[in-house]
Amino acid sequence: MLGNFSFCNPTKLYFGEDSLQYLNEELPKYGKNVQLIYGSGSIKKNGIYDQIVEILRANGKEIFEDGGVMPNPTVEKLHEGIQIARENHVDLLLAVGGGSCCDYAKAVSVSVNCEEEPWEKYYIRFEEPTCEIIPVGCVLTMAGTGSEMNAGSVITNHESKLKIGHVYGESVMPKFSILNPKFTFTLPKYQMVAGIYDIFNHICEQYFSGEDDNTSDYISEALMKSVVHSSRIAVKNPEDYEARSNIMWTATWALNTLVSRGKSTDWMVHMLGQSVGAYTDATHGMTLSAVSLPYYRYIMPYGLQKFVRFAKEVWGINGNGKTDEQIAEEGLSAMENWMRELGLAMKISEIGVTEDMIEGIANGTFIMEGGYKVFTHDDVVAVLRECM
Ligand code: NZQ
Ligand code: ZN
Repeated sequence: MLGNFSFCNPTKLYFGEDSLQYLNEELPKYGKNVQLIYGSGSIKKNGIYDQIVEILRANGKEIFEDGGVMPNPTVEKLHEGIQIARENHVDLLLAVGGGSCCDYAKAVSVSVNCEEEPWEKYYIRFEEPTCEIIPVGCVLTMAGTGSEMNAGSVITNHESKLKIGHVYGESVMPKFSILNPKFTFTLPKYQMVAGIYDIFNHICEQYFSGEDDNTSDYISEALMKSVVHSSRIAVKNPEDYEARSNIMWTATWALNTLVSRGKSTDWMVHMLGQSVGAYTDATHGMTLSAVSLPYYRYIMPYGLQKFVRFAKEVWGINGNGKTDEQIAEEGLSAMENWMRELGLAMKISEIGVTEDMIEGIANGTFIMEGGYKVFTHDDVVAVLRECM
């Protein structure tokens, strides 16, 4: 049975190969000073930067550069961004990039007018902003996180070896996001497949929880089938517009919180992956792929019927003459084959984890309680060892 819920997603999306022109409709809604947030330079190489600067200038905006946002943005970088925004009385934070730029822009947005230390307030104490929030807009260049249409913001603190996400209220969601699938064509294959797995896992996190018959699970199955299908095409031909557009749209659906309404969710793969990321700074999607199969095999007995359904509905496994355990395992094997086909990291040792890190990673793993098995510290360590 679906529980009670409310749903509001105020982000306006512009989707398609002509979507960038809609920046002209959005910009007049905000003041003159725009903080242009981007990463390490891919947008300068592929020409997106020039296109955006031209539109900003045509709209009479003053641009304050804030480049160098790293994958897995850090607390130190957040402080730099806050300073730029404060010094220049910024009216709009325009993030151009992947989830890291979007997440970072949200963190800056709630910190500019906040007198407290943002890491402590938002990422340790999980408090809500009480100050004025600077509006955020996004031009997405990588599909994966769903940050373009949600209130999530993940920040890494290397000193304390913690990577923590805060899901803010709807006032922190981007005011608008521009999604042009062609902008993702230049992504290196490693990043493309990591993003694809991130999408798939966001759906899994919301699917592998609860036993109810609910609409969300049917939608999730369709989204999973779509992303698996399109990923196989995109890996062969990264410039297949149809596949890249399906992947981009599925990413948004996977984490704009609609499919989680009214049902319980898991999120333990993300908690494990984030802690691995805090120790290794590895690519987010790869931290998830490297912990997923040992995790799902570990919890399978506790949620067997859902794993049977997953095997049949998502992977087309024929159940005739087989036990539930066999069907469920065949589903996970099919998923494993697909993951290997994409070239994802399948072990945490491949992405920089060494034996001496296991205890620290386990200590940094937040325990969520919505999955089929509520983990103890020993369960976390056991799964991490399986992932080596
Ligand atoms: O630095 P640039 O030049 O932008 O290069 C980036 C970066 O190196 C590159 N890239 C992006 N678009 C490109 C491109 N290269 C060529 N052509 C393009 N079109 O790709 C690399 C990775 O980018 P990044 O933004 O770091 O990736 P992603 O979108 O996966 O974001 C990862 C961050 O988002 C957080 C992760 O933890 C991580 O910190 N997440 C945010 C979530 C949310 N807001 O809800 C949920 C997720 O589960 C996730 O935790
Ligand atoms: Zn994710």
